[in-house]
Order: sequence, then structure tokens, then C-alpha cells
Amino acid sequence: MAFQDPSRIFVVGGTGAQGFAVIRGLVSDRKYFVRALSRDPASRRATALTALGNVSILKGTFADEAVLRAGFRDCDGAYVNIDGFNAGEKTEMYWAIRSYEIAIEEGVKFFVYGNLDYGLKQSGYDSRFRTGHYDGKGRVGEWILFQNQFNRERMGAALLTTGPYMEMAFSAMTPMTPSIECGVATWRVPLGMGAVPHAALEDCGYYARWLFDNQSRANGMDLAVAIEHVEYGKLAEAFERVTGHPARYIDTELDAYWSGPLKAAASLPAGYNADPHDKSTMSFRDNFTGFWNLWKFGIVKRDYALLDEIHPTRIRSVESWLRREEELGKVQGKGGFGSGFSPKTCSNRRHY
Ligand SMILES: NC(=O)c1ccc[n+]([C@@H]2O[C@H](COP(=O)([O-])OP(=O)(O)OC[C@H]3O[C@@H](n4cnc5c(N)ncnc54)[C@H](OP(=O)(O)O)[C@@H]3O)[C@@H](O)[C@H]2O)c1
Repeated sequence: MAFQDPSRIFVVGGTGAQGFAVIRGLVSDRKYFVRALSRDPASRRATALTALGNVSILKGTFADEAVLRAGFRDCDGAYVNIDGFNAGEKTEMYWAIRSYEIAIEEGVKFFVYGNLDYGLKQSGYDSRFRTGHYDGKGRVGEWILFQNQFNRERMGAALLTTGPYMEMAFSAMTPMTPSIECGVATWRVPLGMGAVPHAALEDCGYYARWLFDNQSRANGMDLAVAIEHVEYGKLAEAFERVTGHPARYIDTELDAYWSGPLKAAASLPAGYNADPHDKSTMSFRDNFTGFWNLWKFGIVKRDYALLDEIHPTRIRSVESWLRREEELGKVQGKGGFGSGFSPKTCSNRRHY
């Protein structure tokens, strides 16, 4: 199953947050060539990808067999992260399964699927934990590993199971965006005493690369990654230590959470192209209620000893992640994490 050097990888979702980190990991030393799918090759993200070198862009949508076929053709490997927030859970599952089937038919030798935890199953099929964008990927992930029992010599396969990017806790318009209240960075989220297994995008690039570089061991593997399970009280403390700015976590009831900044989005479909009249389409509120319950009740696990072995220099704590970002921001002249934060500000719920 070993690739001929240099080998070519087709990436679906390459211009996205995850895909960009994965591609950087693949081409940084020119070991791999990447063909990345994008609906808009002239976009800022696509242009930035080609600037990395060893990257070409294929124009098109993943919801088109001819495009997928052209993408997989002549490639040794594939990294597929189908955007569930475009397609919605049901459509995502269809195109993810077709991607695997077309990849094997086109002669791809190793297929890595950008996966998320099958939270509903891990909870014992308890609907309080139903999270469409997790379950949609997680079901397909299990299906791929099952196919792999029969196909592993023809096309190897592995899952890279990630989780909420650490960046999400510090960015605007995410389910965990903090607000600045009287100068205090404040996370009001329904997490209780639970913890979120946040993933570092940079390390996702390393792990994806590891899977392609170590195919014999990786074949059939579900590599489930995270920095650590992040308790938000500790996240606020780390933020204070690193930036010097006051911060706090306030555990928030679900009703209050959904009456806050996300109120307008609560009843919208969790997938901008999903059919709102299809009864299988979850609303943002239902989807992200399950999401928070997964973390609040500790449903999702990680094997941190395995991650230490595979990636000895991995980012191991939210504080280390923050320190690296702080340094990077300064080196790039963007200022530290705390820039733009005014302790004098005393408004209600201004987003950080
Ligand atoms: N946000 C998180 O914390 C997180 C964590 C783990 C996993 N995920 C999962 O990752 C997926 C989204 O990827 P991302 O996080 O990298 O998001 P993102 O930054 O929003 O990127 C979305 C990517 O999907 C591509 N895309 C969307 N619709 C497409 C279509 N019809 N055809 C071809 N490409 C299409 C976009 O490409 P173009 O715009 O260039 O066409 C872009 O590369 C979702 O399924 C999400 O559940 C998210």
C-alpha cells in the first residue's frame, strides 16, 4: 500500500479551517502534492493554499459525482472532510459514503476521513446527546471502518476524529464565543462541571500527516484527538494568566443560553443548504443542545497516552495553546490575544 514518492492527495474541505491545517502538514516539506477541492478557486483561502506550494485547486462541489471522480483520479491518497454545516446531516452522510466508494473505484490507496464522535452511540442512544453534525460523521466513520475489514488491502482507511477547535472559544459567532462584560472576558455556556475536548488545528495537521506516513499502523485506526478536556473555569484562569486580562466562566442554563446571542439562529436549520421542511433536519438549538450535553456529561473520551506517543510534542493544555497563539500574534505583528480588549469597557455582552 506504500505510496510512490512524491504522492498526490485529494483533499475535500481543503480551504476550510481543518483542511488548511491538514494541507500545511502535508506539503510543508514537499513530500506530498495536494489537489484541493473548492467551489471558488479565486477565493482568499484557495489562493493562500496554492501559495503554500505543491497545491492545485480543483473547482467544484463535493455534491457531484463527476467532480469527486476527477478529484480522486490519479491520486494515491484522500483526506475527506465534508462540510455538514452546508449539506446537513442526511446529505453529508450520502456524499461521505459516495466519496469512499468513488475513491476505492478510482484506485486511491489510502483514505482518511475527517470524523467526529458518534456521540449518540457513545451515550447509549440517549436523545439528550443527539448532535447531527457529530452523529452524521460518526456513523459514516463506523461504516468506513467496517468496509475496511474487507477492503483494507485494496484501499487502506483511517479516521481522524477531532472535536471543537480551540480557536472556537476565542472567535466571534461560535457556540462558545465569550462576551466582554465590564472588562471581563466571560464564557456563558451550558457546560456545568464538564469539559470540552478541544482540538488544536496545528496538531490536526500533524496527525493527518502521521496517518499518511504510517499507513501500515494507521490502516483501520480511529485516531481520536484533542489537546485536553478543557474545563471552562480553567480556561478562564489560563486566559487571565496568559493575557493579564480578567476572565470568568459562568455556567448557564440551556434556556438562558438560547435566549442570549444565539437566539436568532436557534430555530434555523443546522446546515445552510439543509431543507428546513425535512423533518430530519435538526435546528441549531436541538443540534447544539446535544453538543453541550456531550461535554457536560463527559460522554466523549480520549486516549491521551496514545496521543503522547504519536505526537510527543503535541499541545497538551489550553494554557500552552494560548501561550503559543500569544507569541505567534506578536511575531506576526498582530498583537497578543489580549489586544483589542479594553478593561474600561463596561457594556453588556459585547463579543470578544
Ligand atoms: N468548527 C469546529 O470546531 C469543527 C471541529 C471539527 C470538525 N468540524 C467539521 O468540519 C466541517 C467543516 O470544515 P471546517 O471546520 O474546516 O469549516 P470551514 O472553515 O467552514 O470550511 C468549510 C470547507 O468546506 C468546503 N465546502 C463547503 N461546501 C462545499 C461544497 N458543496 N463542495 C466543496 N467544498 C465545500 C469549503 O470549501 P470552499 O468554500 O472553498 O468551496 C471549505 O473548505 C463540518 O462538517 C464540521 O462539523 C468542525
